[in-house]
Amino acid sequence: MSGDAPISTPWRPSKKDARYTGPRACVKCHAEESATQHLTAMGRALEPVATSEILRAHPRLTFRSGPYAHEIVRRGDQSLYTVTDGVNTISEPILYTFGQGKAGQTYIFRHDGSFYESRLSFYKDIQGLDVTIGYPREIPPSLEVAAGRRISMDEARNCFSCHGTGAAYGNQLQLDRLVPGVTCEACHGPGAEHVAAMEAKQFKDKRIFNPGKMSADDLSQEFCGSCHRSAEQVISNKLLRGLITVRFQPYRMFTSRAHDPADMRLTCTACHNPHENPSADEAFYDPKCFACHRSFASLKSPAVAKTEEKEGRTDKACPVAQSLCVSCHMPKVEFPGSHFKFTDHRIRIAKAGEQFPN
Ligand code: HEC
Ligand code: HEC
Ligand code: HEC
Ligand code: HEC
Ligand code: HEC
Ligand code: HEC
Ligand code: HEC
Repeated sequence: MSGDAPISTPWRPSKKDARYTGPRACVKCHAEESATQHLTAMGRALEPVATSEILRAHPRLTFRSGPYAHEIVRRGDQSLYTVTDGVNTISEPILYTFGQGKAGQTYIFRHDGSFYESRLSFYKDIQGLDVTIGYPREIPPSLEVAAGRRISMDEARNCFSCHGTGAAYGNQLQLDRLVPGVTCEACHGPGAEHVAAMEAKQFKDKRIFNPGKMSADDLSQEFCGSCHRSAEQVISNKLLRGLITVRFQPYRMFTSRAHDPADMRLTCTACHNPHENPSADEAFYDPKCFACHRSFASLKSPAVAKTEEKEGRTDKACPVAQSLCVSCHMPKVEFPGSHFKFTDHRIRIAKAGEQFPN
């Protein structure tokens, strides 16, 4: 998915001399954060072809649309993306894979001196290729279009900045310095000065950015929203309306009735540890809701209501159920063609058969 990445932030400074160390340098002092982060979907948001699990496990992928035959074939450590109409052929090695295939794995290749995004993506759900989300499903008018979409240098820089680490220096994309995936320094900024300071035991000035010290809305909107799309970005872009907004969790959360710009109990990190994959267990989220909402029991017992009030749980109780809150109030929504159900972060009373609320 494409869009603008911010120009310069503490975690992504646009300095030409930014010094990144790579995530291995953090392991010895931060074992806990380092244990799982590289295995998460974010940590693997972009991978080189040589180590791509999906491409290695699928040595030959094929797809047909009208006169065009597509193929991705493994050759040693490379994967070759080929499209032919029977007369002419475009064939290029894939440079990088984007995503792990939940809502698609899309391929970036170079052709005629430009970057291209593949018109086809791999989807885990079908274990095969289908049209990339956002592309028309009609038969493409030309071989070029069948292969993919040419992307400008600006857009490429944004792709690599949201899915990778340390790709941009000033306004330049420098792939030779890219660390694949959203790793430590994508979120904490270049770490070389921090490592040097900590090794020299200069603990006063840590020289590293900690998003945990931001206020609630800065963390969810400015920080997580810098890649996941803030409410401001979505609202100001008129093309982003309807079902597609289910992909933009900061916008959906911001427009929930529960949203309070200063309340940490509903920030992204209240429910997600960014160093781990999100929990798929619906019960995991109940205590997060109960941080604000009263229990079912409080409806009947004034004593319970009073205790809960002392704990700061002053919001209404659910009259319907006592657990698995997200199963009803954060419904899963299928975005057409994505082969995946996104979780609607607009917390609400969802009604059967309703139109998706914008
Ligand atoms: C030589 C050991 C060492 C290395 C290597 C190291 N750190 Fe740290 N880091 C520390 C210490 C010590 C602290 C302070 C811990 C504390 O205050 O409890 C710290 C604190 C932090 C904090 C919190 C800062 C704050 O203001 O709260 C972050 C974020 C962080 N490190 C990230 C990283 C990242 C990312 C890397 C790799 C680029 C890294 N560290 C490498 C020792 C290290
Ligand atoms: C540098 C950009 C960037 C930032 C900052 C960022 N994310 Fe992400 N995040 C991504 C990308 C890219 C993906 C898609 C990974 C994939 O599926 O390949 C993702 C995926 C996720 C996922 C889904 C994981 C899964 O299993 O499908 C969660 C949850 C998530 N991010 C939470 C957060 C939270 C919380 C924050 C803020 C604390 C945050 N992200 C900040 C880029 C970012
Ligand atoms: C502004 C930041 C941003 C930019 C720019 C961006 N992405 Fe993403 N991308 C994300 C985030 C966040 C997610 C996870 C949420 C989602 O799936 O919508 C994601 C998800 C994806 C996925 C689905 C991953 C999965 O495992 O399901 C693919 C594929 C993808 N992006 C490819 C690209 C490509 C290719 C480009 C450039 C042409 C690009 N993205 C540009 C932030 C970005
Ligand atoms: C997607 C963004 C993201 C990535 C990637 C990421 N972090 Fe963090 N990190 C955060 C956020 C957000 C916090 C604040 C969490 C909080 O306070 O709830 C944090 C907090 C920390 C802290 C401070 C913990 C504390 O107890 O205060 C350390 C240390 C740290 N991260 C190290 C790392 C290391 C090492 C890596 C790479 C292995 C890493 N982080 C990757 C977003 C990220
Ligand atoms: C009240 C809890 C809660 C909060 C707060 C929250 N999430 Fe989630 N998030 C969930 C649940 C539940 C899932 C679904 C997990 C699953 O079933 O795998 C999820 C899944 C995701 C996914 C995976 C894609 C999807 O749609 O399933 C991403 C990305 C994500 N959250 C990002 C964010 C970001 C960014 C924020 C902050 C704006 C945020 N979340 C705040 C509960 C929360
Ligand atoms: C930061 C505190 C907070 C958290 C955490 C929180 N809520 Fe709420 N919630 C509120 C507030 C405040 C309202 C608005 C109450 C009102 O308008 O009277 C609300 C409203 C609601 C509503 C009614 C929405 C409507 O459209 O009428 C539902 C349903 C709800 N919350 C469910 C949840 C669930 C489920 C969770 C956990 C996934 C959760 N809330 C987490 C504070 C919170
Ligand atoms: C089986 C589906 C389901 C589950 C699970 C569920 N709810 Fe509800 N909830 C509803 C429905 C339906 C309503 C609307 C009831 C009505 O209007 O009469 C509702 C209403 C609410 C309201 C609005 C109450 C009011 O007086 O306006 C809140 C807040 C709420 N739920 C929170 C939660 C929390 C917190 C949980 C988890 C402990 C939860 N819900 C679990 C279906 C569910």
